[in-house]
Parts: sequence; C-alpha cells; structure tokens
Amino acid sequence: MGNRLEDKIIVVTGASSGLGRGIAKACAKEGAKVVVSDIREEPTAGGFEDDAALTTVQSIRDSGGEAVFVRCDVTRSDQVAHLIAEAVKTFGRLDVMVNNAGIFRAGKRMHEFGEADLDVCFEVNAKGTFFGSQEAVKQFLAQGDGGNIINIVSTAGLQGHPNQSVYNISKGAQANLTRCLAIEYGKDQIRVNGICPTYAKTALTRELFNDEDFDSSFTESIPLKRWGEVEDVANLAVFLASDESGYIHGDLIKVDGGETLSRYSV
Ligand SMILES: NC(=O)c1ccc[n+]([C@@H]2O[C@H](COP(=O)([O-])OP(=O)(O)OC[C@H]3O[C@@H](n4cnc5c(N)ncnc54)[C@H](O)[C@@H]3O)[C@@H](O)[C@H]2O)c1
Repeated sequence: MGNRLEDKIIVVTGASSGLGRGIAKACAKEGAKVVVSDIREEPTAGGFEDDAALTTVQSIRDSGGEAVFVRCDVTRSDQVAHLIAEAVKTFGRLDVMVNNAGIFRAGKRMHEFGEADLDVCFEVNAKGTFFGSQEAVKQFLAQGDGGNIINIVSTAGLQGHPNQSVYNISKGAQANLTRCLAIEYGKDQIRVNGICPTYAKTALTRELFNDEDFDSSFTESIPLKRWGEVEDVANLAVFLASDESGYIHGDLIKVDGGETLSRYSV
C-alpha cells in the first residue's frame, strides 16, 4: 500500500469492470477511500480481469483497501445525485470524481447506424459525464476547498476514427466538456482533466482483440507495438487524482503508445 492518495475520497463510475475497476483498485492501493459505482456489481463478461470472480469492492478489501459499492446508472441524474450523496454520507466529503462509465458502438458507416446507437452513446458517454461533473461540482462548491474531476475520454475524442461515428462524436463531446469545465471552475480550484486511451484490453474491446486481423494491424500501427493495458490508464489516473499534478488543468492526456503521432508506422 502507498500513500499518494491518503484519505482522499474518490468516486469512480463504471468501476465494476475494465478501466474503472483498474482505476478504483489503483487509487485504493494508494490510500484512497473509493466509492465503486456501476449499474451492476460483477464485472462484465469477456473482460481481462485476473480476479473476475470478485467484485471490485471485494478485490480492494482483500488487498487491505477501503471501498463501498453504490449502484448508479449515470444516464439518470437522480441516481448520480444519490451516488454523490452516498459518498458524502459514507466518507464525509468528495475529493475526486472519475467519470469513467462508457459504452462503445462500432462496425458501421455513419448512414448504417440506427438512432438507438446514437442515443445510447450520447446518454452514457456525454450525458453521464455531464451529470457526474454537475453533481461533483455542486458538492465541491459546497465544501469550498476545490475539487478534482477526471474524465475517461478516448483518442476517439481527439480525432476522427472510421466506422464508429456515434461513439466518436460522444467522446468529442466529453473532450470539449472537459475544456469547458476547466475554464469555468478553475477559479474555484476545481481541476478538470481527461485521459485519452487508445484501445486497451477490456470487455469493451474483447471482440476487436479476438479478431486476429484487427489485432495484428492495430498492434503494428502503434509505435510501442502493443495494446494498452488497464494499468497504463490507472497509473495516469492516480497521478491526476494526486496533488502531484496540482498545476495540470484542462488537459486531455493521451495514453496511446504513440498512436496519434503519425499515419506512418515503422
Ligand atoms: N477499453 C478501451 O480500449 C477504451 C479506450 C478509450 C476509452 N475508453 C473508455 O473507458 C471507459 C471504460 O471502458 P472500459 O473499456 O473499461 O469498458 P468496460 O465495458 O470494461 O467497462 C465499462 C463499465 O461501465 C459500466 N456502465 C455501462 N453503462 C453504464 C451506465 N449507464 N451507468 C453506469 N455504469 C455503466 C459497465 O457496467 C462496465 O462495468 C469508457 O468511457 C470507454 O469509452 C475505453
């Protein structure tokens, strides 16, 4: 156990699986008290967790950390308000809000997507981050001593990716919300940053990972010649959650093995 986040109260949405789970576990390992939140408690099938039989809270507690679970669908503003209220009721305050819950839709050109795919990407990825930020900001302003929001965006929020327009534009909205909030709430000492991973190994990308052609062409296209790992993202989240990153604000930081540097690969 480390102490880089000692006694910080951190809420992570979508934390039963994948990146959110990894972020929750990494924060707890550094001494944070973590509110694990999701629509379900067990990890999504098909993920890469080596402890998938355990819930995130069980895994954190088994390692000596402190965590509670609060069920919350981030598309519902009343449930997000309840999540923050529960975090404060349990641990006394809120220090960091990680808006991680997200879903992915891909495999079609724009004209082939249905309205349901468009709606669900906006509901979870954009609106969910909006509600999470809104409730966190209200709590931070009430506490009166700053705050910290970390949005899990994507390199898809920074550039166009083919055959995933509905996901791409929801991530673009999340990226721009990060910039807006940083400008609006900097004077309240509320820091806001985004993390932009390329494909990392989670349930969300399992289908792509299992596609041998995609796997080899994707790996080849990345200058570091490998997929992202949950830990790559979690390590940055710990840094952004900590006071070590105190002057980093409004940034959208890539965790992409160099993916976005060039169209050339060597
Ligand atoms: N895995 C990647 O390659 C990758 C790359 C870039 C960005 N991201 C982003 O990272 C975030 C996490 O993705 P992941 O790869 O860990 O996926 P994942 O599917 O493993 O985990 C997502 C979690 O979010 C939860 N969730 C879904 N809808 C929800 C809702 N309405 N309310 C609350 N929770 C909900 C799911 O139950 C699940 O536990 C997403 O925002 C995703 O867009 C992932």
